[in-house]
Amino acid sequence: MGVFQYIEDISLYQVFLVLSSTSVLYAVSLAIHRLYLSPLAKFPGPKLAAATLWYEFYYDVIKRGRFAWEIKRMHEVYGPIVRINPFELHINDPEFYDELYTGSSRKRNKFEWSADMFSIPESMISTVSHDLHRRRRAPIAQFFSPQAIRRFDPVIRTKLELLCSRLKEYEKTGEPAVTENAFTALTSDIITEYSFGISTGYLEMPGFNPTWLPGLLSASENSLLHKQIPWITSVMRSLPVSLLLKLKPEMGNFVIFQEAISIEKQINAVQKGEIKPHANGDHPTIFHAFLASGEEVTPGRLLGEGQTLVAAGSLTTAHYLKATTYHILHDPPVLKKLKAEVQEAMPNPSVLPPFRDLDRLPYLNAVVNEGFRLSHGVIARLTRVAPDESLKLNDWVIPAGTPVGMSTWLQHLNASLFPNPDDFRPERWLEPDADRLKKYLVNFTKGSRVCLGKDLARTKIVYTLCALFRRFDMELYETDRSDVDIAHDFFNPSARLDSKGMRVIFKAVNS
Ligand code: HEM
Repeated sequence: MGVFQYIEDISLYQVFLVLSSTSVLYAVSLAIHRLYLSPLAKFPGPKLAAATLWYEFYYDVIKRGRFAWEIKRMHEVYGPIVRINPFELHINDPEFYDELYTGSSRKRNKFEWSADMFSIPESMISTVSHDLHRRRRAPIAQFFSPQAIRRFDPVIRTKLELLCSRLKEYEKTGEPAVTENAFTALTSDIITEYSFGISTGYLEMPGFNPTWLPGLLSASENSLLHKQIPWITSVMRSLPVSLLLKLKPEMGNFVIFQEAISIEKQINAVQKGEIKPHANGDHPTIFHAFLASGEEVTPGRLLGEGQTLVAAGSLTTAHYLKATTYHILHDPPVLKKLKAEVQEAMPNPSVLPPFRDLDRLPYLNAVVNEGFRLSHGVIARLTRVAPDESLKLNDWVIPAGTPVGMSTWLQHLNASLFPNPDDFRPERWLEPDADRLKKYLVNFTKGSRVCLGKDLARTKIVYTLCALFRRFDMELYETDRSDVDIAHDFFNPSARLDSKGMRVIFKAVNS
């Protein structure tokens, strides 16, 4: 008995020894390959970051969305081009932007490792291949054309009127409104009505449904973990919602939402004629558009596109509205000039003029651009791969097929382009060389994968800023810049996590 036990112990010990020494050997040879033999070995950057993805994991997962700041530090130490992980370079040089984010005649793939960070591989935003992306984007692109948006104009205006009437209720109680919840309710109600023909209805809910924004941000943050450990999301999705709600309430709420917009249910409803194209015009829902295109109408594809539209269409614009409203309220001369211009264009506060009239107001335009600059857009680096050409930056030659990213926020805070970059100064967009500056404003990114919803976003932004600053006197309530500035990169921007939000007291203006 004792002898058998001895043999068993030895063999277990030996197995452990072989396994652990093989793993160490593998890790060491992998690190040597990455540091000295890889085609990226010549590029500057921290050795540890070049050797292992755990470096990024530490900043993004453990420190919660902080790798973007580490990349900023790397550029300060190593210059305009750095190797940020074993496979990827990052560039901080505004002149390179148009080279990386080019039109569709030059191929730009996404980087497979990060493209599927949202766990919706069949969606256009996660599509790696340039050619497949072109095919997937086409049926949705016509859906977001300026003409399609003009047809939807009455619905945007109706939702905005609802927001204003809800904000007037806050005046009665004297309570401050948490603006990010109000703006996320507005943008969510608009995008769901636009895309699916049914609205989330958050504008009508108490507090504008305060659980929704944390749910979206939680799903956004989860993308950082999913990028590193892809099976984790499937495990979470397999848990019963009731358990998920206990373990991670925001994630549970997000799953409930996904079920509520159940794609399969909606496709069936569209096919049976239960969801009609919008009554106010010939605007179809995205499902009508997909079914009509007949291309790749799979549940995975439709779920992916549906989820992309909801997240991209609500979080980004809501963050913009929050940040820009803060900067205007925080700067009395800017506030005064904007109010004067909007008052002249909108003599009766209850009558919102047509979009084209508001969109040509010069000071408003300068404010909108400065808002685009300081709210940044998507905070994450946007990685592209040129599969069949090498790219050049100064003396560096980047081999074809290398994932390369750039970050909007680093470009927007570049002091040689935008002096005093942290200041909100709309006047910079009214100076003689403003047209030259516009080239560097990249909140919607550029090229073949430019934001699909940029015209819809602009329409919502122009209308909302005009309606709010004409109809209300607003006052910041126990809010400072740290409630607004980006402190975490969850792909979408997030302010510091212990913020109580940007709270504002609203008082209606009657004439
Ligand atoms: C101020 C508001 C907005 C900003 C700053 C913004 C920014 C961006 C950026 C930077 C991208 C590129 C992402 C990437 O390369 O991975 C993008 C893509 C996208 N955006 Fe927006 N966005 C905004 C509003 C909207 C709205 C209202 C919609 C409406 C549906 C929308 C829909 C999309 C879609 C579908 C994509 C993917 C496009 C593709 O992969 O071809 N966005 N957006």
